[in-house]
Amino acid sequence: MKAIVVYYSLTGKTKLIAEGLAKELGCEAKQIEEVRKRSVAGAYILGAFAAMRSKASEIKPLNIDMQAYDTFIIATPVWASSPAPAINAFMANTNFKNKNAVFIISSASGDDSKAATLLTNKIHAKGGTVLHHHAIKTNGLKEEDINKKAKDIAGLYK
Ligand SMILES: Cc1cc2nc3c(=O)[nH]c(=O)nc-3n(C[C@H](O)[C@H](O)[C@H](O)COP(=O)(O)O)c2cc1C
Repeated sequence: MKAIVVYYSLTGKTKLIAEGLAKELGCEAKQIEEVRKRSVAGAYILGAFAAMRSKASEIKPLNIDMQAYDTFIIATPVWASSPAPAINAFMANTNFKNKNAVFIISSASGDDSKAATLLTNKIHAKGGTVLHHHAIKTNGLKEEDINKKAKDIAGLYK
């Protein structure tokens, strides 16, 4: 399996999971960045509303040949029960035909099922296969707890 971890993170938790996972798997991690940086307060107003409507935001070019990979491990925070708009942009811009996807869905304490369904439908519509999705509830987790979760998930794909 030639995998890459692709993630968006606003407050650093998904980043910790994604970078930990990539380190454990010995693969590349690529952070998606939005063209217009958001504050956390701004995210709760405009970002959550955009996420709820499955909108994509403008993201910086990733400058990477995604077709060189067969498995995408895609990590997103949950915003209003949905994937973050930056991840929606990545999903829209990427060709998933005959590719595998694994989702890492990070929420404070809420359910991941709506975000997982939205992401799964996008992969299926683009001819890809979803291997699994993992939910991580980050409320109250310390850095070492998050690292342990990343390690546990990585163990499934080694
Ligand atoms: C705009 C916004 C909306 C959010 N909506 C939800 C939600 O619906 N359910 C939930 O459990 N957590 C929600 N959260 C919390 C994040 O999903 C959670 O803290 C996540 O681990 C943050 O990841 P990050 O640090 O990589 O940005 C929201 C956070 C933000 C900023």
